[in-house]
Amino acid sequence: MNDVDFPAWMGQMQRRTEAALARHLPRADVLPEQLHEAMRYATLGGGKRVRALLAHAAGAVTDAAPDRVDVVASAVELIHAYSLVHDDMPCMDNDVLRRGKPTAHVRFGEATALLAGDALQTLAFQLLAENRVSENPHDQLAMIALLASASGSRGMAGGQAIDLASVGCQIALEALELMHIHKTGALIRAAIVLGARCGGRVEQDMLTRLDHFGKLVGLLFQVVDDILDLQSDTATLGKTAGKDANADKPTYVSLLGLSGARQLAADLLEQARSPLIPLGRQARRLDELASFIVARKY
Ligand code: IPE
Ligand code: IPE
Ligand code: MG
Ligand code: MG
Ligand code: MG
Repeated sequence: MNDVDFPAWMGQMQRRTEAALARHLPRADVLPEQLHEAMRYATLGGGKRVRALLAHAAGAVTDAAPDRVDVVASAVELIHAYSLVHDDMPCMDNDVLRRGKPTAHVRFGEATALLAGDALQTLAFQLLAENRVSENPHDQLAMIALLASASGSRGMAGGQAIDLASVGCQIALEALELMHIHKTGALIRAAIVLGARCGGRVEQDMLTRLDHFGKLVGLLFQVVDDILDLQSDTATLGKTAGKDANADKPTYVSLLGLSGARQLAADLLEQARSPLIPLGRQARRLDELASFIVARKY
């Protein structure tokens, strides 16, 4: 697995993640069927799985067992899927297309979408509580707490609140950075640290480097999301292009212009790669993923 090229590794890991998620999600023929169907609809059959890939790539740095990383990767992808379901609802971004399909509330109605998001979130924590991801139970509890804080009001949900409160506002670059680091960065950063903490060879210096990488790459991910919203088209993105400008959202493109945002992405990529250097070849998938995050088309 380590000697295949990046696209082959990525494909294998995406399929692995899909299979793990399909196993962990409740079956659609179990009561309440519609809720379970909506949970599966929102999670399976789409998505780049960047957070899961980052968790596996970070796990490779600490010699983590891939089966353990599957658990944290699934938990993070479940939180991410829930955040997308709620992000798309009429009370938030009011989007009708996600991953090339009608959004969950369009397909199942708002109440079911809301509950599917709720249930995806709690399933994520159930996975981490029921499956061993660390030798040490104290470490496992700390990992659960890490995912909770990355997802909650001091993490993703808090960032989403800032995002909604910023519509139509002229905000400073520092405020935009804070919003992006929370709404998108926190979960990406957590995916990396959690993947690494599944390993048996976890040294503090490694974790500090990976956390630093995670913080930068998390911000970078949303800078590129802002660029793609303007630059790409709906068919390529699988979600409606041009939504940010239409909704009058402050983004890196609205503050810096397209070329300023592109330059920032290039700078962040360079900064993100540097803490990986002393980690050597075991960090190479992380390095490749950072480049992929900038080069991606959707
Ligand atoms: C989109 O995330 C929402 C953001 C946090 C920017 P992704 O671009 O990772 O979405 P999927 O999972 O690949 O659909
Ligand atoms: C979403 O940011 C961040 C989340 C926590 C889901 P966006 O609103 O920019 O994501 P897209 O563009 O709809 O995927
Ligand atoms: Mg949004
Ligand atoms: Mg949105
Ligand atoms: Mg966006």
